Amino acid sequence: MAELEQARAWIAAATSLAVLTGAGISAESGIPTFRGAGGLWRDYKPEELATPEAFARDPRLVWEWYNWRRELIAKAAPNAAHRALVELEKRKPGFTLITQNVDGLHDRAGSGKILKLHGDIWRMRCTACGANWSDRRAPLPKLPPHCACGGLARPGVVWFGEPLPDGMMKEAEHAASSAQVVLVIGTSAVVHPAASLIPCARQAGAKIIEINTEETAASARVDCALRGPAGELLPLLL
Ligand code: OAD
Repeated sequence: MAELEQARAWIAAATSLAVLTGAGISAESGIPTFRGAGGLWRDYKPEELATPEAFARDPRLVWEWYNWRRELIAKAAPNAAHRALVELEKRKPGFTLITQNVDGLHDRAGSGKILKLHGDIWRMRCTACGANWSDRRAPLPKLPPHCACGGLARPGVVWFGEPLPDGMMKEAEHAASSAQVVLVIGTSAVVHPAASLIPCARQAGAKIIEINTEETAASARVDCALRGPAGELLPLLL
């Protein structure tokens, strides 16, 4: 496959590389993606649950969804794609991993620094006092969970309409625009600002390689689109 060879050559020659991952990289670990088959939970779309408004209206319902996802993720293990990125990080002097995923599988695979644009499902934040802490229990014993101060806890993730963690998007933009090659893996590229990293990198001259089982919103504007499961394709690129 000529495209695969081309992508391999670009990666081999690059000294600086950035990677943007989405839910598709964890699909082979058994974690459902948000959009597409198996992405729905009790007929709700993620956009109906992952919002401050949904949480204000029905915190228990939103927590039930997160509790369900925490249980799935707790049983899952990193796959060959997560592991390939750990290997790539060892080989490249300039390497930045940017993820939209909150599942923590990149950490568990052994990746070093990770820019978690959408937060971390294993963190909690108090809506009253602002405290934040790690809680890996799955399932949670009581829904909705509360902080030691008595305030209602929320998942430590970014919801639709909320800003990304302070300064993180700037750091991601810097990495994307200074990389020679950007790998875009398992994302539908429809959620902004994360998806805007792709044109940002391209304008700065990076080669964009997309790895996805399907065509996406970004496919028409990448330099190389590889179709197939990330867990099979990524190891072939090293
Ligand atoms: P999506 O669910 O929108 O897209 C997943 C992508 O992965 C799709 O393009 C699939 O074709 C692709 N895919 C599925 N299996 C794959 C595999 N084995 N190998 C490679 N690709 C595969 O997920 P995201 O783009 O990550 O945000 O979604 C972005 C954000 O929307 C999420 O971070 C989340 C969500 O709502 C928030 O919660 C704020």
